[in-house]
Amino acid sequence: MTVPMLDLVAQYATIKDDVLTAMMKVVETQQFIMGPAVPDLEAAIARLSHAKHGIGCASGTDALLLPLKAVNLRPGDEVITTPFTFFATAGTIHNAGATPVFVDIQPDTFNIDPAAVARAITPRTRAIMPVHLYGQMADMLELMAIAAPRGLKIIEDAAQAIGARRKMDGEWRVAGELGWVTGYSFFPSKNLGAWGDGGMMVTSDDAAADRLRKLRLHGGAKQYHHDEVGTNSRLDTLQAAVLLAKLPRLSQWSGKRRDHAAYYTKAFADIAEVKPPVIDPANEHIFHQYTLRAERRDELQAHLKNEGIGHAVYYPIPLHRQPCFAHLGYKDGSLPQAERASREAISLPIYPELTRAQLDRVIETIRGFYR
Ligand SMILES: Cc1ncc(COP(=O)(O)O)c(C=O)c1O
Repeated sequence: MTVPMLDLVAQYATIKDDVLTAMMKVVETQQFIMGPAVPDLEAAIARLSHAKHGIGCASGTDALLLPLKAVNLRPGDEVITTPFTFFATAGTIHNAGATPVFVDIQPDTFNIDPAAVARAITPRTRAIMPVHLYGQMADMLELMAIAAPRGLKIIEDAAQAIGARRKMDGEWRVAGELGWVTGYSFFPSKNLGAWGDGGMMVTSDDAAADRLRKLRLHGGAKQYHHDEVGTNSRLDTLQAAVLLAKLPRLSQWSGKRRDHAAYYTKAFADIAEVKPPVIDPANEHIFHQYTLRAERRDELQAHLKNEGIGHAVYYPIPLHRQPCFAHLGYKDGSLPQAERASREAISLPIYPELTRAQLDRVIETIRGFYR
């Protein structure tokens, strides 16, 4: 039995009728640009995020780039972020005209270390961009305590964490609720995935929402009137319709992912060479990824490949060591936890439709490697 890393065809079989019906409604009205599904989805995602406004855009990348532009960054301004993330997190900081400042991660959760953020603040710091990596939230309470007194904006990269929650001062707070602006990605592999690219920003700041709505539409609220230079970054109506049709299943899907994660973690307890993901006790994880630390990771990867077991390394080269950021001067050993994570992390199939037999096959293959 082979087990793919992700099986969107299996998901398609369960949602086909709902999604095709929703798409055909768009086709029949021919309202492909900013049709009613877009504001409907914006309202639904804002609700889910305990935020006032949702602003759809073309991708998760733009959902980070546009709020960074709204900070009015100038050359030399700094945005502090994690090096252990997808490239877009730092690429957008660069493309918005600022300098990414990378700080190390916490070894247990792989999320940005607030103490390292505090140490990295300079007079040029303008914003902090935490990533809720793999589906569990970063320590927002600590980050807010650092940002608020200094007037720094927090832009949450929640591309992997839609619906994730964290208990803070006894209350559940969700991804998207606490940052100034939060960006989501609807890339097809995400927990809530479109049938193409898509993204969304959420915020409870009215002025920021107005600004972001303009920035995604060439910088104008009124057609042919441009207050500033923006871009074309609308969320496609067809994608919004797909996402609206899938949204009622999101929490059940994330629950399934949690069940699979618990099953793996129990099974891996007696394999000394692998460390299952650590869930911060304050967090409810949505397991966008199930990521182990593994001894002899690269050999394990080759073994899984030979055995037809899907897997992936997120992320093999931390961003501070990418050639495009060489000019920033980070060296090997600058951010040791991120570098170690990039050598040890390996993600396993965790999609909701996995069967018990598939989970057992993944477990047995890993057990066989270390035996
Ligand atoms: C952490 C993170 N940030 C940003 C993005 C960018 O999203 P997109 O691919 O939709 O542009 C992704 C996903 O791909 C991501 O995982």
